[in-house]
Amino acid sequence: MCGIIAYTGDERAAPILLEGLKRLEYRGYDSAGILTIDENSEFELKKDVGKVLEIDQKLNFLDLEGDSGLAHTRWATHGGVTRSNAHPHISNNGKIAAIHNGIVENYKELRSKLISEGFTFCSETDTEVVPNLVEYWIEKRGLDFLHAVLNTFQSLEGNFALVLIDRDSKMIVGAKNGSPLVLGVGKNKFFLASDIPAFLDRTKDVVYLYDGDTVILHPERRYEIIDYRTGKVVQRPIQSVSWDIEHAAKGEFDHFMLKEISEQVETIQKASAQDREVIEDITQRIRRARGVFLIGCGSSFHACLSASYLFSKLASFHINAVLASEFSAYEDFLKEDTLVIAVTQSGETIDVLDAIKTAKQKGCQVVSIVNVMGSSATQFADASIFLNAGPEVSVLSTKTYTAQLTVLTLLAYSLAGKYEEGQRELKYLWNIVYNITAASMRNRIKDLADRLSKVEHIFVLGRGPLYATALEAALKIKEVSYIHAEAFAGGELKHGPISLIGKGTPCIVFVSKDTERHIISNAMEVKSRGGYLIGIGPTPLDTFDFFIKVPESDELNPICQIIPIQILAYQLAVILGHDPDRPRNLAKSVTVR
Ligand code: M6R
Repeated sequence: MCGIIAYTGDERAAPILLEGLKRLEYRGYDSAGILTIDENSEFELKKDVGKVLEIDQKLNFLDLEGDSGLAHTRWATHGGVTRSNAHPHISNNGKIAAIHNGIVENYKELRSKLISEGFTFCSETDTEVVPNLVEYWIEKRGLDFLHAVLNTFQSLEGNFALVLIDRDSKMIVGAKNGSPLVLGVGKNKFFLASDIPAFLDRTKDVVYLYDGDTVILHPERRYEIIDYRTGKVVQRPIQSVSWDIEHAAKGEFDHFMLKEISEQVETIQKASAQDREVIEDITQRIRRARGVFLIGCGSSFHACLSASYLFSKLASFHINAVLASEFSAYEDFLKEDTLVIAVTQSGETIDVLDAIKTAKQKGCQVVSIVNVMGSSATQFADASIFLNAGPEVSVLSTKTYTAQLTVLTLLAYSLAGKYEEGQRELKYLWNIVYNITAASMRNRIKDLADRLSKVEHIFVLGRGPLYATALEAALKIKEVSYIHAEAFAGGELKHGPISLIGKGTPCIVFVSKDTERHIISNAMEVKSRGGYLIGIGPTPLDTFDFFIKVPESDELNPICQIIPIQILAYQLAVILGHDPDRPRNLAKSVTVR
Protein backbone atom coordinates (compact mmCIF):
# COMPACT_ATOMS: atom_id res chain seq x y z
CA MET A 1 0.00 0.00 0.00
CA CYS A 2 1.08 3.62 -0.38
CA GLY A 3 3.58 4.99 2.10
CA ILE A 4 3.68 8.57 3.33
CA ILE A 5 6.35 10.64 5.01
CA ALA A 6 6.38 14.39 5.59
CA TYR A 7 9.08 16.35 7.39
CA THR A 8 9.70 19.84 8.65
CA GLY A 9 12.65 20.80 10.84
CA ASP A 10 16.11 22.27 11.17
CA GLU A 11 17.83 19.84 8.82
CA ARG A 12 17.69 19.44 5.02
CA ALA A 13 14.55 17.55 4.16
CA ALA A 14 15.67 15.50 1.12
CA PRO A 15 18.06 13.03 2.88
CA ILE A 16 15.51 12.46 5.66
CA LEU A 17 12.65 11.92 3.24
CA LEU A 18 14.73 9.61 1.04
CA GLU A 19 15.72 7.51 4.05
CA GLY A 20 12.08 7.44 5.14
CA LEU A 21 10.99 6.23 1.70
CA LYS A 22 13.49 3.39 1.86
CA ARG A 23 12.05 2.35 5.20
CA LEU A 24 8.51 2.41 3.79
CA GLU A 25 9.41 0.27 0.78
CA TYR A 26 8.24 -2.90 2.55
CA ARG A 27 4.65 -1.71 2.21
CA GLY A 28 4.79 -2.50 -1.53
CA TYR A 29 4.81 0.18 -4.25
CA ASP A 30 5.34 0.84 -7.93
CA SER A 31 6.43 4.49 -8.03
CA ALA A 32 7.81 7.13 -5.69
CA GLY A 33 8.40 10.83 -5.35
CA ILE A 34 9.76 13.62 -3.14
CA LEU A 35 8.79 17.30 -3.06
CA THR A 36 10.48 20.02 -1.02
CA ILE A 37 10.11 23.79 -0.61
CA ASP A 38 13.33 25.65 -1.28
CA GLU A 39 14.47 28.97 0.22
CA ASN A 40 12.68 30.93 -2.52
CA SER A 41 9.42 29.24 -1.51
CA GLU A 42 9.39 27.25 -4.76
CA PHE A 43 8.40 23.61 -4.94
CA GLU A 44 11.12 21.21 -6.10
CA LEU A 45 9.70 17.88 -7.25
CA LYS A 46 11.15 14.59 -8.46
CA LYS A 47 8.99 11.52 -9.04
CA ASP A 48 8.89 8.49 -11.31
CA VAL A 49 7.89 4.85 -11.61
CA GLY A 50 10.21 2.12 -10.27
CA LYS A 51 12.14 1.39 -7.09
CA VAL A 52 13.28 4.23 -4.83
CA LEU A 53 16.93 3.37 -5.50
CA GLU A 54 16.46 3.31 -9.29
CA ILE A 55 14.59 6.63 -9.28
CA ASP A 56 17.24 8.15 -7.02
CA GLN A 57 20.02 6.96 -9.34
CA LYS A 58 18.20 8.51 -12.29
CA LEU A 59 16.97 11.77 -10.73
CA ASN A 60 19.14 12.28 -7.63
CA PHE A 61 16.65 13.13 -4.89
CA LEU A 62 19.42 14.66 -2.79
CA ASP A 63 19.54 17.65 -5.14
CA LEU A 64 16.25 18.84 -3.68
CA GLU A 65 16.72 21.88 -1.46
CA GLY A 66 14.78 23.02 1.60
CA ASP A 67 13.95 21.99 5.14
CA SER A 68 10.33 20.87 4.61
CA GLY A 69 8.76 18.40 2.24
CA LEU A 70 6.59 15.43 1.39
CA ALA A 71 7.50 11.98 0.07
CA HIS A 72 5.46 9.05 -1.11
CA THR A 73 5.59 5.48 -2.36
CA ARG A 74 2.57 4.69 -4.55
CA TRP A 75 0.77 1.34 -4.91
CA ALA A 76 -1.51 1.95 -7.89
CA THR A 77 -5.28 1.83 -7.37
CA HIS A 78 -6.77 4.62 -9.52
CA GLY A 79 -4.81 5.03 -12.72
CA GLY A 80 -1.89 3.06 -14.14
CA VAL A 81 1.73 2.99 -13.05
CA THR A 82 2.94 6.21 -14.71
CA ARG A 83 5.02 9.20 -13.71
CA SER A 84 2.04 11.54 -13.86
CA ASN A 85 0.06 9.32 -11.49
CA ALA A 86 2.94 9.17 -8.99
CA HIS A 87 2.68 11.45 -5.92
CA PRO A 88 3.14 14.20 -4.76
CA HIS A 89 0.41 15.95 -6.75
CA ILE A 90 0.36 19.73 -7.15
CA SER A 91 -2.63 22.05 -7.54
CA ASN A 92 -3.27 24.01 -10.76
CA ASN A 93 -1.74 27.21 -9.40
CA GLY A 94 1.38 25.31 -8.30
CA LYS A 95 1.02 26.34 -4.66
CA ILE A 96 -0.36 23.29 -2.87
CA ALA A 97 1.01 19.75 -2.91
CA ALA A 98 -0.46 16.56 -1.51
CA ILE A 99 0.42 12.94 -0.75
CA HIS A 100 -2.23 10.36 -0.03
CA ASN A 101 -2.79 6.79 1.10
CA GLY A 102 -6.31 5.40 0.71
CA ILE A 103 -9.14 6.09 -1.69
CA VAL A 104 -11.25 9.21 -2.24
CA GLU A 105 -14.47 7.42 -3.16
CA ASN A 106 -16.34 10.52 -4.36
CA TYR A 107 -13.43 11.82 -6.46
CA LYS A 108 -15.34 11.64 -9.77
CA GLU A 109 -18.01 13.98 -8.48
CA LEU A 110 -15.42 16.33 -6.96
CA ARG A 111 -13.37 16.27 -10.14
CA SER A 112 -16.41 17.18 -12.29
CA LYS A 113 -17.20 20.04 -9.95
CA LEU A 114 -13.63 21.33 -10.20
CA ILE A 115 -13.60 20.96 -14.01
CA SER A 116 -16.76 23.05 -14.18
CA GLU A 117 -14.84 25.68 -12.19
CA GLY A 118 -12.08 25.68 -14.81
CA PHE A 119 -9.60 23.29 -13.17
CA THR A 120 -7.58 20.85 -15.29
CA PHE A 121 -6.08 17.48 -14.32
CA CYS A 122 -2.89 15.82 -15.42
CA SER A 123 -3.27 12.44 -13.72
CA GLU A 124 -5.91 9.71 -13.52
CA THR A 125 -5.69 9.53 -9.73
CA ASP A 126 -8.34 10.20 -7.13
CA THR A 127 -5.71 12.15 -5.15
CA GLU A 128 -5.32 15.04 -7.58
CA VAL A 129 -8.70 16.47 -6.62
CA VAL A 130 -7.42 17.13 -3.11
CA PRO A 131 -4.81 19.91 -3.64
CA ASN A 132 -7.13 21.43 -6.26
CA LEU A 133 -10.05 21.51 -3.87
CA VAL A 134 -7.84 23.33 -1.39
CA GLU A 135 -6.88 25.79 -4.12
CA TYR A 136 -10.57 26.23 -4.93
CA TRP A 137 -11.40 27.16 -1.33
CA ILE A 138 -8.51 29.63 -1.19
CA GLU A 139 -8.77 31.24 -4.61
CA LYS A 140 -12.51 31.18 -5.22
CA ARG A 141 -13.87 31.33 -1.69
CA GLY A 142 -11.22 33.39 0.09
CA LEU A 143 -10.27 30.96 2.88
CA ASP A 144 -6.79 30.67 4.36
CA PHE A 145 -4.81 27.46 3.76
CA LEU A 146 -5.78 25.75 7.03
CA HIS A 147 -9.50 26.36 6.67
CA ALA A 148 -9.40 25.43 3.00
CA VAL A 149 -7.79 22.11 3.99
CA LEU A 150 -10.37 21.48 6.72
CA ASN A 151 -13.23 22.16 4.29
CA THR A 152 -11.60 19.83 1.77
CA PHE A 153 -11.19 16.98 4.29
CA GLN A 154 -14.86 17.37 5.26
CA SER A 155 -15.95 16.88 1.67
CA LEU A 156 -14.00 13.64 1.13
CA GLU A 157 -15.61 10.21 1.31
CA GLY A 158 -13.58 7.06 1.86
CA ASN A 159 -10.52 6.09 3.85
CA PHE A 160 -7.49 8.29 3.70
CA ALA A 161 -4.29 9.51 5.26
CA LEU A 162 -3.44 12.80 3.59
CA VAL A 163 -0.68 15.33 4.02
CA LEU A 164 -0.63 18.72 2.26
CA ILE A 165 1.93 21.47 2.13
CA ASP A 166 1.41 25.14 1.22
CA ARG A 167 4.11 27.06 -0.63
CA ASP A 168 3.04 30.45 0.73
CA SER A 169 2.65 29.71 4.43
CA LYS A 170 5.03 26.68 4.50
CA MET A 171 2.45 25.03 6.69
CA ILE A 172 2.01 21.24 6.57
CA VAL A 173 -1.37 19.72 7.45
CA GLY A 174 -2.06 15.99 7.66
CA ALA A 175 -5.15 14.04 8.64
CA LYS A 176 -6.23 10.48 9.08
CA ASN A 177 -9.52 8.75 8.41
CA GLY A 178 -9.29 4.97 8.30
CA SER A 179 -5.70 4.82 6.97
CA PRO A 180 -2.59 4.88 9.14
CA LEU A 181 -0.79 8.12 10.04
CA VAL A 182 1.47 8.75 13.00
CA LEU A 183 3.18 11.92 14.22
CA GLY A 184 6.87 11.86 15.18
CA VAL A 185 8.01 14.59 17.55
CA GLY A 186 11.72 15.46 17.68
CA LYS A 187 13.69 18.48 18.87
CA ASN A 188 12.80 21.19 16.36
CA LYS A 189 11.63 18.55 13.90
CA PHE A 190 8.34 16.84 13.13
CA PHE A 191 7.32 13.93 10.97
CA LEU A 192 4.03 12.59 9.68
CA ALA A 193 4.29 9.05 8.35
CA SER A 194 2.38 5.89 7.59
CA ASP A 195 4.56 3.94 9.97
CA ILE A 196 7.06 4.60 12.75
CA PRO A 197 10.18 3.00 11.12
CA ALA A 198 10.04 5.81 8.52
CA PHE A 199 11.47 8.24 11.11
CA LEU A 200 12.62 6.03 13.99
CA ASP A 201 16.29 6.93 13.43
CA ARG A 202 15.38 10.58 14.19
CA THR A 203 12.96 10.29 17.11
CA LYS A 204 11.33 7.63 19.28
CA ASP A 205 8.61 9.99 20.52
CA VAL A 206 5.35 9.44 18.69
CA VAL A 207 1.74 10.53 18.86
CA TYR A 208 -0.73 7.85 17.73
CA LEU A 209 -3.46 9.59 15.76
CA TYR A 210 -7.15 8.71 15.67
CA ASP A 211 -9.65 9.11 12.84
CA GLY A 212 -10.47 12.77 12.36
CA ASP A 213 -7.17 13.94 13.89
CA THR A 214 -5.62 16.72 11.84
CA VAL A 215 -2.03 17.67 12.62
CA ILE A 216 -0.91 21.19 11.80
CA LEU A 217 2.85 21.59 11.54
CA HIS A 218 3.64 25.28 11.77
CA PRO A 219 6.79 26.62 10.07
CA GLU A 220 7.99 28.02 13.42
CA ARG A 221 8.40 24.40 14.63
CA ARG A 222 5.34 23.69 16.71
CA TYR A 223 2.35 21.51 16.18
CA GLU A 224 -1.29 21.30 17.17
CA ILE A 225 -3.98 18.71 16.58
CA ILE A 226 -7.60 19.43 15.82
CA ASP A 227 -10.46 17.22 14.65
CA TYR A 228 -11.34 18.25 11.08
CA ARG A 229 -14.90 17.05 11.62
CA THR A 230 -15.57 19.38 14.55
CA GLY A 231 -12.77 21.92 14.36
CA LYS A 232 -12.07 21.28 18.08
CA VAL A 233 -8.58 20.98 19.55
CA VAL A 234 -7.58 17.41 20.46
CA GLN A 235 -5.02 16.42 23.11
CA ARG A 236 -3.02 13.27 22.43
CA PRO A 237 -0.16 11.98 24.57
CA ILE A 238 3.40 11.68 23.27
CA GLN A 239 4.53 8.09 23.77
CA SER A 240 8.01 6.64 23.55
CA VAL A 241 8.57 3.64 21.28
CA SER A 242 10.32 0.79 23.08
CA TRP A 243 12.14 -0.68 20.07
CA ASP A 244 14.82 1.04 18.04
CA ILE A 245 15.94 1.26 14.45
CA GLU A 246 18.04 -1.95 14.66
CA HIS A 247 14.77 -3.85 14.98
CA ALA A 248 13.74 -2.41 11.65
CA ALA A 249 17.14 -3.05 10.01
CA LYS A 250 18.40 -6.23 8.33
CA GLY A 251 21.57 -6.52 10.42
CA GLU A 252 23.69 -9.53 9.39
CA PHE A 253 20.89 -11.05 7.27
CA ASP A 254 20.49 -10.76 3.50
CA HIS A 255 16.77 -10.18 3.78
CA PHE A 256 14.22 -9.13 6.39
CA MET A 257 12.26 -12.32 5.77
CA LEU A 258 15.14 -14.52 6.94
CA LYS A 259 15.85 -12.20 9.87
CA GLU A 260 12.23 -12.30 10.95
CA ILE A 261 12.05 -16.11 10.62
CA SER A 262 15.15 -16.37 12.82
CA GLU A 263 13.73 -13.96 15.39
CA GLN A 264 10.95 -16.42 16.24
CA VAL A 265 13.08 -17.94 18.99
CA GLU A 266 12.48 -14.66 20.87
CA THR A 267 9.20 -13.42 19.46
CA ILE A 268 7.24 -16.53 20.47
CA GLN A 269 8.51 -16.02 24.01
CA LYS A 270 7.66 -12.31 23.92
CA ALA A 271 4.16 -13.04 22.64
CA SER A 272 3.61 -15.50 25.47
CA ALA A 273 4.84 -13.01 28.11
CA GLN A 274 1.44 -11.35 28.33
CA ASP A 275 0.06 -9.54 31.30
CA ARG A 276 -1.95 -12.23 33.13
CA GLU A 277 -4.77 -9.76 33.85
CA VAL A 278 -5.22 -8.96 30.16
CA ILE A 279 -5.47 -12.67 29.26
CA GLU A 280 -7.88 -13.26 32.16
CA ASP A 281 -10.04 -10.30 31.07
CA ILE A 282 -10.31 -11.59 27.49
CA THR A 283 -10.96 -15.13 28.78
CA GLN A 284 -13.90 -13.80 30.79
CA ARG A 285 -15.23 -11.91 27.76
CA ILE A 286 -15.07 -15.16 25.77
CA ARG A 287 -16.87 -17.08 28.55
CA ARG A 288 -19.60 -14.46 28.91
CA ALA A 289 -20.25 -14.17 25.17
CA ARG A 290 -23.01 -15.97 23.35
CA GLY A 291 -21.27 -16.62 20.07
CA VAL A 292 -17.60 -15.85 19.39
CA PHE A 293 -16.13 -15.07 15.97
CA LEU A 294 -12.42 -15.12 15.20
CA ILE A 295 -11.80 -13.02 12.09
CA GLY A 296 -8.77 -12.23 9.96
CA CYS A 297 -7.37 -12.24 6.42
CA GLY A 298 -4.55 -14.23 4.81
CA SER A 299 -2.12 -15.61 7.36
CA SER A 300 -4.07 -14.04 10.20
CA PHE A 301 -7.13 -16.02 9.10
CA HIS A 302 -5.05 -19.20 9.12
CA ALA A 303 -4.10 -18.41 12.73
CA CYS A 304 -7.83 -18.03 13.49
CA LEU A 305 -8.66 -21.34 11.84
CA SER A 306 -5.87 -23.12 13.69
CA ALA A 307 -7.10 -21.66 16.97
CA SER A 308 -10.67 -22.75 16.32
CA TYR A 309 -9.47 -26.40 16.45
CA LEU A 310 -7.51 -25.68 19.62
CA PHE A 311 -10.38 -23.94 21.42
CA SER A 312 -12.55 -26.93 20.62
CA LYS A 313 -10.07 -29.60 21.64
CA LEU A 314 -8.49 -27.97 24.66
CA ALA A 315 -11.38 -25.96 26.10
CA SER A 316 -14.43 -27.68 24.52
CA PHE A 317 -15.38 -24.25 23.24
CA HIS A 318 -16.97 -23.62 19.85
CA ILE A 319 -15.63 -20.59 18.04
CA ASN A 320 -16.32 -19.54 14.44
CA ALA A 321 -13.28 -18.72 12.33
CA VAL A 322 -14.42 -16.47 9.48
CA LEU A 323 -12.54 -14.64 6.74
CA ALA A 324 -12.95 -10.95 7.54
CA SER A 325 -13.76 -10.26 3.88
CA GLU A 326 -16.72 -12.70 4.14
CA PHE A 327 -17.91 -11.54 7.54
CA SER A 328 -20.87 -9.53 6.27
CA ALA A 329 -22.63 -12.87 5.53
CA TYR A 330 -22.82 -13.41 9.30
CA GLU A 331 -24.19 -9.96 10.18
CA ASP A 332 -27.62 -11.27 11.10
CA PHE A 333 -26.14 -13.42 13.86
CA LEU A 334 -24.45 -10.49 15.58
CA LYS A 335 -26.09 -9.55 18.89
CA GLU A 336 -24.99 -7.40 21.79
CA ASP A 337 -23.58 -10.42 23.58
CA THR A 338 -21.56 -11.62 20.57
CA LEU A 339 -17.78 -11.30 20.83
CA VAL A 340 -15.67 -10.63 17.74
CA ILE A 341 -11.92 -11.26 18.04
CA ALA A 342 -10.07 -9.56 15.19
CA VAL A 343 -6.62 -10.97 14.46
CA THR A 344 -4.47 -8.61 12.39
CA GLN A 345 -0.75 -7.98 12.37
CA SER A 346 -1.01 -4.46 10.99
CA GLY A 347 -4.32 -3.48 12.54
CA GLU A 348 -5.02 -1.63 9.28
CA THR A 349 -6.42 -4.29 6.93
CA ILE A 350 -9.55 -2.71 5.50
CA ASP A 351 -11.56 -5.95 5.40
CA VAL A 352 -10.87 -6.44 9.09
CA LEU A 353 -11.72 -2.83 9.94
CA ASP A 354 -14.99 -3.10 7.98
CA ALA A 355 -15.90 -6.24 9.94
CA ILE A 356 -15.02 -4.54 13.23
CA LYS A 357 -17.20 -1.54 12.34
CA THR A 358 -20.12 -3.81 11.46
CA ALA A 359 -19.72 -5.62 14.77
CA LYS A 360 -19.60 -2.34 16.71
CA GLN A 361 -22.72 -1.05 14.94
CA LYS A 362 -24.52 -4.21 16.09
CA GLY A 363 -23.40 -3.52 19.66
CA CYS A 364 -20.95 -6.46 19.84
CA GLN A 365 -17.83 -6.49 21.96
CA VAL A 366 -14.62 -6.42 19.91
CA VAL A 367 -11.17 -7.63 20.96
CA SER A 368 -8.18 -7.12 18.69
CA ILE A 369 -4.98 -9.17 18.58
CA VAL A 370 -2.52 -6.83 16.91
CA ASN A 371 1.18 -6.19 16.42
CA VAL A 372 1.16 -2.49 15.55
CA MET A 373 0.45 -0.26 18.52
CA GLY A 374 -1.95 2.62 17.95
CA SER A 375 -3.28 1.00 14.77
CA SER A 376 -6.91 1.47 13.74
CA ALA A 377 -8.01 -1.98 14.97
CA THR A 378 -6.82 -1.13 18.48
CA GLN A 379 -8.65 2.19 18.34
CA PHE A 380 -11.99 0.58 17.49
CA ALA A 381 -11.67 -2.44 19.80
CA ASP A 382 -12.93 -2.61 23.40
CA ALA A 383 -9.75 -4.43 24.41
CA SER A 384 -6.52 -5.46 22.70
CA ILE A 385 -3.70 -7.94 23.08
CA PHE A 386 -0.38 -6.97 21.53
CA LEU A 387 1.88 -9.51 19.85
CA ASN A 388 5.06 -7.66 20.90
CA ALA A 389 6.89 -9.10 17.88
CA GLY A 390 8.59 -5.81 16.93
CA PRO A 391 8.31 -4.41 13.40
CA GLU A 392 7.76 -6.98 10.66
CA VAL A 393 9.25 -5.45 7.53
CA SER A 394 9.06 -8.32 5.03
CA VAL A 395 5.70 -8.38 3.27
CA LEU A 396 5.28 -12.00 4.34
CA SER A 397 3.94 -12.70 7.79
CA THR A 398 6.32 -15.06 9.57
CA LYS A 399 7.12 -14.04 13.14
CA THR A 400 3.77 -12.32 13.58
CA TYR A 401 1.94 -15.48 12.42
CA THR A 402 3.59 -17.60 15.12
CA ALA A 403 3.07 -14.77 17.63
CA GLN A 404 -0.67 -14.78 16.78
CA LEU A 405 -0.77 -18.56 17.28
CA THR A 406 1.06 -18.15 20.58
CA VAL A 407 -1.43 -15.60 21.93
CA LEU A 408 -4.41 -17.66 20.73
CA THR A 409 -2.91 -20.81 22.27
CA LEU A 410 -2.50 -19.00 25.57
CA LEU A 411 -6.13 -17.90 25.42
CA ALA A 412 -7.26 -21.49 24.74
CA TYR A 413 -5.27 -22.78 27.73
CA SER A 414 -6.67 -19.98 29.87
CA LEU A 415 -10.22 -20.80 28.78
CA ALA A 416 -9.57 -24.43 29.73
CA GLY A 417 -8.45 -23.24 33.18
CA LYS A 418 -4.86 -24.29 32.39
CA TYR A 419 -3.09 -20.95 32.02
CA GLU A 420 0.07 -22.05 33.90
CA GLU A 421 0.31 -25.24 31.88
CA GLY A 422 0.02 -23.18 28.69
CA GLN A 423 2.82 -20.90 29.83
CA ARG A 424 5.01 -23.90 30.70
CA GLU A 425 4.43 -25.55 27.33
CA LEU A 426 5.22 -22.35 25.47
CA LYS A 427 8.45 -21.96 27.42
CA TYR A 428 9.62 -25.45 26.40
CA LEU A 429 9.16 -24.43 22.79
CA TRP A 430 12.26 -22.25 22.93
CA ASN A 431 14.64 -25.15 22.38
CA ILE A 432 12.65 -26.62 19.50
CA VAL A 433 12.34 -23.31 17.68
CA TYR A 434 16.04 -22.63 18.25
CA ASN A 435 16.93 -25.89 16.49
CA ILE A 436 14.47 -25.41 13.63
CA THR A 437 15.80 -21.96 12.84
CA ALA A 438 19.50 -22.96 13.18
CA ALA A 439 21.85 -22.71 10.18
CA SER A 440 22.12 -26.53 9.94
CA MET A 441 18.36 -26.78 9.40
CA ARG A 442 18.47 -23.99 6.82
CA ASN A 443 21.17 -25.86 4.90
CA ARG A 444 19.16 -29.05 4.94
CA ILE A 445 16.05 -27.28 3.67
CA LYS A 446 18.16 -25.66 0.94
CA ASP A 447 18.63 -29.12 -0.65
CA LEU A 448 14.87 -29.47 -0.80
CA ALA A 449 14.46 -25.95 -2.19
CA ASP A 450 16.95 -26.75 -4.99
CA ARG A 451 14.76 -29.66 -6.07
CA LEU A 452 11.42 -27.87 -5.66
CA SER A 453 12.56 -24.72 -7.47
CA LYS A 454 12.07 -26.63 -10.76
CA VAL A 455 8.48 -27.74 -10.19
CA GLU A 456 5.23 -26.06 -11.21
CA HIS A 457 2.96 -27.32 -8.45
CA ILE A 458 3.36 -28.21 -4.79
CA PHE A 459 0.58 -29.76 -2.73
CA VAL A 460 0.32 -29.61 1.03
CA LEU A 461 -1.65 -31.91 3.31
CA GLY A 462 -2.62 -31.63 6.97
CA ARG A 463 -5.41 -32.64 9.28
CA GLY A 464 -7.03 -30.89 12.23
CA PRO A 465 -5.08 -27.78 13.24
CA LEU A 466 -2.35 -28.88 10.83
CA TYR A 467 -4.82 -28.34 7.99
CA ALA A 468 -4.61 -24.64 8.87
CA THR A 469 -0.81 -25.05 8.86
CA ALA A 470 -1.06 -26.58 5.38
CA LEU A 471 -3.06 -23.55 4.17
CA GLU A 472 -0.47 -21.22 5.63
CA ALA A 473 2.39 -23.25 4.13
CA ALA A 474 0.81 -23.09 0.65
CA LEU A 475 0.29 -19.32 1.04
CA LYS A 476 3.93 -18.78 2.07
CA ILE A 477 5.25 -20.78 -0.89
CA LYS A 478 3.08 -19.13 -3.52
CA GLU A 479 3.40 -15.55 -2.25
CA VAL A 480 7.15 -15.45 -2.51
CA SER A 481 8.23 -18.17 -4.98
CA TYR A 482 5.27 -17.73 -7.40
CA ILE A 483 5.08 -21.54 -7.61
CA HIS A 484 1.52 -22.78 -7.47
CA ALA A 485 0.98 -24.36 -4.05
CA GLU A 486 -2.31 -25.68 -2.79
CA ALA A 487 -3.39 -27.14 0.53
CA PHE A 488 -5.92 -29.85 1.21
CA ALA A 489 -7.28 -31.40 4.35
CA GLY A 490 -5.89 -34.95 4.21
CA GLY A 491 -9.34 -36.52 4.15
CA GLU A 492 -10.39 -34.44 1.15
CA LEU A 493 -7.68 -35.78 -1.14
CA LYS A 494 -9.74 -38.71 -2.35
CA HIS A 495 -12.72 -36.43 -3.02
CA GLY A 496 -11.05 -34.86 -6.03
CA PRO A 497 -7.54 -33.40 -5.68
CA ILE A 498 -5.89 -36.82 -5.97
CA SER A 499 -6.44 -36.59 -9.71
CA LEU A 500 -3.66 -33.96 -9.74
CA ILE A 501 -1.04 -36.35 -8.38
CA GLY A 502 1.32 -37.89 -10.93
CA LYS A 503 4.89 -39.13 -11.09
CA GLY A 504 7.14 -36.87 -9.02
CA THR A 505 4.37 -34.46 -7.88
CA PRO A 506 5.73 -32.92 -4.66
CA CYS A 507 3.46 -33.17 -1.66
CA ILE A 508 4.30 -31.80 1.79
CA VAL A 509 2.65 -33.70 4.63
CA PHE A 510 2.34 -32.34 8.17
CA VAL A 511 2.27 -35.17 10.71
CA SER A 512 1.55 -35.16 14.44
CA LYS A 513 0.94 -37.85 17.04
CA ASP A 514 -2.79 -37.08 16.96
CA THR A 515 -3.31 -37.17 13.24
CA GLU A 516 -0.59 -39.67 12.27
CA ARG A 517 -2.76 -42.72 11.52
CA HIS A 518 -5.02 -40.96 9.06
CA ILE A 519 -2.59 -38.54 7.46
CA ILE A 520 -0.13 -41.36 6.79
CA SER A 521 -2.75 -43.27 4.87
CA ASN A 522 -3.41 -40.08 2.86
CA ALA A 523 0.33 -39.83 2.24
CA MET A 524 0.35 -43.44 1.04
CA GLU A 525 -2.37 -42.56 -1.47
CA VAL A 526 -0.03 -39.91 -2.89
CA LYS A 527 2.98 -42.23 -2.82
CA SER A 528 1.23 -45.03 -4.64
CA ARG A 529 0.51 -42.62 -7.49
CA GLY A 530 4.16 -41.71 -7.85
CA GLY A 531 4.13 -38.52 -5.71
CA TYR A 532 7.30 -37.18 -4.03
CA LEU A 533 6.58 -37.03 -0.30
CA ILE A 534 8.06 -34.46 2.04
CA GLY A 535 7.24 -35.29 5.65
CA ILE A 536 7.30 -32.77 8.48
CA GLY A 537 6.82 -34.15 11.96
CA PRO A 538 8.36 -36.10 14.81
CA THR A 539 9.14 -39.47 13.16
CA PRO A 540 10.74 -40.34 9.82
CA LEU A 541 8.78 -42.89 7.81
CA ASP A 542 9.90 -45.07 4.91
CA THR A 543 7.30 -43.50 2.67
CA PHE A 544 8.93 -40.07 2.94
CA ASP A 545 11.32 -39.10 0.17
CA PHE A 546 12.48 -36.13 2.25
CA PHE A 547 11.98 -35.63 5.96
CA ILE A 548 12.22 -32.58 8.23
CA LYS A 549 12.17 -33.48 11.88
CA VAL A 550 10.09 -31.26 14.14
CA PRO A 551 9.71 -32.77 17.62
CA GLU A 552 6.17 -33.49 18.78
CA SER A 553 4.75 -30.47 20.62
CA ASP A 554 1.10 -31.54 20.96
CA GLU A 555 -1.14 -28.45 20.96
CA LEU A 556 1.83 -26.32 19.94
CA ASN A 557 2.62 -28.26 16.75
CA PRO A 558 1.15 -25.53 14.48
CA ILE A 559 3.59 -22.98 15.92
CA CYS A 560 6.67 -25.14 15.22
CA GLN A 561 5.74 -26.99 12.07
CA ILE A 562 5.18 -23.93 9.89
CA ILE A 563 8.75 -22.68 10.44
CA PRO A 564 10.56 -25.13 8.08
CA ILE A 565 8.14 -24.10 5.33
CA GLN A 566 8.77 -20.41 5.98
CA ILE A 567 12.46 -21.23 5.44
CA LEU A 568 11.66 -23.29 2.34
CA ALA A 569 9.58 -20.45 0.85
CA TYR A 570 12.40 -17.99 1.53
CA GLN A 571 14.99 -20.24 -0.12
CA LEU A 572 12.79 -20.89 -3.14
CA ALA A 573 12.49 -17.13 -3.66
CA VAL A 574 16.26 -16.64 -3.42
CA ILE A 575 17.02 -19.54 -5.80
CA LEU A 576 14.46 -18.27 -8.31
CA GLY A 577 15.84 -14.74 -8.13
CA HIS A 578 12.82 -13.09 -6.50
CA ASP A 579 13.03 -10.47 -3.77
CA PRO A 580 11.69 -12.29 -0.67
CA ASP A 581 10.90 -9.05 1.12
CA ARG A 582 8.87 -7.49 -1.68
CA PRO A 583 6.94 -10.08 -3.65
CA ARG A 584 5.27 -8.82 -6.81
CA ASN A 585 1.77 -7.31 -6.51
CA LEU A 586 1.65 -7.69 -2.71
CA ALA A 587 1.51 -5.04 -0.01
CA LYS A 588 2.26 -5.35 3.67
CA SER A 589 -1.06 -4.00 4.82
CA VAL A 590 -4.00 -4.16 2.48
CA THR A 591 -6.00 -0.99 2.86
CA VAL A 592 -8.20 -1.42 -0.22
CA ARG A 593 -11.24 -3.68 -0.54
O1 M6R B 1 -2.10 -7.13 8.77
P1 M6R B 1 -2.98 -8.31 8.67
O2 M6R B 1 -2.59 -9.43 9.57
O3 M6R B 1 -4.44 -7.98 8.84
O4 M6R B 1 -2.79 -8.84 7.18
C1 M6R B 1 -3.58 -9.87 6.67
C2 M6R B 1 -3.03 -10.39 5.37
O5 M6R B 1 -3.01 -9.37 4.41
C3 M6R B 1 -1.61 -10.96 5.53
O6 M6R B 1 -1.57 -11.98 6.47
C4 M6R B 1 -1.10 -11.49 4.17
O7 M6R B 1 -1.80 -12.65 3.82
C5 M6R B 1 0.40 -11.72 4.20
N1 M6R B 1 0.93 -11.44 2.90
C6 M6R B 1 0.78 -13.11 4.56
O8 M6R B 1 2.13 -13.38 4.40
